Amino acid sequence: MIKKILAVDDDAAVLKVMKTALQDNGYEVVAVESGAKAIKEIRKEFYPLIILDVKLPDTDGLAVLKMLRELQKESLHSVVIMVTGFPSEEIVVEAIKNGANDYLAKPFNLTEFSYSVNRNAKVAELEIEKYEYARQLAQKNKELGETLLELKKAKDTADNCNITLERMVEEEMRSFQISQAQLIQSAKMAAVGQLGAGVAHELNNPLTAVLGYSQFLLQKTKDKGPLDINDLRSYLESIEKETIRCREIVSNLLQFSRKPFGEKDEPIDIRKAIDSVFLIIGNQLKLNNIEVEAKLAPDLFKVAGNLNQLAQVFINIFLNARDAMKGKGKLSINVQNIIDEKNNNACTVAVAISDTGCGIAQENLAKIFEPFFTTKEKDKGTGLGLFVTYQIIQEHNGSIEVKSEVGKGTTFTITLPAAQ
Ligand SMILES: Nc1ncnc2c1ncn2[C@@H]1O[C@H](COP(=O)(O)OP(=O)(O)O)[C@@H](O)[C@H]1O
Ligand SMILES: [Mg+2]
Repeated sequence: MIKKILAVDDDAAVLKVMKTALQDNGYEVVAVESGAKAIKEIRKEFYPLIILDVKLPDTDGLAVLKMLRELQKESLHSVVIMVTGFPSEEIVVEAIKNGANDYLAKPFNLTEFSYSVNRNAKVAELEIEKYEYARQLAQKNKELGETLLELKKAKDTADNCNITLERMVEEEMRSFQISQAQLIQSAKMAAVGQLGAGVAHELNNPLTAVLGYSQFLLQKTKDKGPLDINDLRSYLESIEKETIRCREIVSNLLQFSRKPFGEKDEPIDIRKAIDSVFLIIGNQLKLNNIEVEAKLAPDLFKVAGNLNQLAQVFINIFLNARDAMKGKGKLSINVQNIIDEKNNNACTVAVAISDTGCGIAQENLAKIFEPFFTTKEKDKGTGLGLFVTYQIIQEHNGSIEVKSEVGKGTTFTITLPAAQ
């Protein structure tokens, strides 16, 4: 229920009657007798209901109405009842055009007046409600607009992120492909096809010999002819030798069916790996007149990997050194920690193994890691030792280098990353 009403009339008696009637109806009334005062009031505060005389001494009622509507263009509208003593159709039309809500002709009786006021008070109330709803709606719209804007911004950011991410992935893929290509190039000796063909070839020769000698002996027993005991021994020795060769090739290749080492592998003490190798082949070295000098720095970093595989690496290299020294020489082993300041203080363990053997010819240096490359006599070398060595070091994320001078000796240097 609205409270305050502005009543405007130049006739003091009419104003008084209206004021009394309105107060009787429970309204609070501000009564003024001129257009100027009315304008001052409506500028000062909002009146939900205004009763406005058309004919005023200064500014007339219609002008006040126009001004009011102008003033309230963007805001809540007052409900206006126009009052006049000379009602003409023209004035009524003009008033409605300018936004009057109702019209009351003088003289009016109080019942008529009260009825009109109460009805328009209801309209004013509805007007206020409607305005409040509109205001809330506008607020909601504004919030919605802001949310939409934020969503759009978030979407733009996400789109940008996606583009950046895509670029990063592309870049990574490209550098990955390049390093893959380099890896494939440098490790082409590991090509499975090459290995398979090599295996077949290498096994075929000794097997052909074994088959040949066996068939020959079998034939002899069928013929029941005379068989020289020396011939028999020589055939059997050949069969034994070729079979041993097959076994060596197979045992080397078995390295490839071993499980790749994983997290379960303990950090390994290089000293232990080398000691275990000397337990196995120390005697052989001694028999070949090979002096061994091992210098292992104290407090060596441990390396992550597989003890048996690393032992295999050292066996392969030591036996090659033994073969290269041909019955006399010195094997030096030097192990030390390396902290690479240029590379983020990366910690590695370097194992250098030198011999005073025959050395490796320049043209062979590039081939020694290839499978089945050997310069040794047919039944001495398989050409798999360094190939296997290279694969094991790769699997340990390490590297292997060789320096050699014909007639002087050879040094293999293995570098392995320290365990975390
Ligand atoms: N310490 C070394 N001194 C001289 N030559 C070596 C040495 N180590 C390896 N080589 C050369 O590399 C070849 C390949 O070695 P490897 O793969 O172990 O096969 P294998 O020992 O069966 O010949 C050897 O035949 C030899 O020519
Ligand atoms: Mg070898």
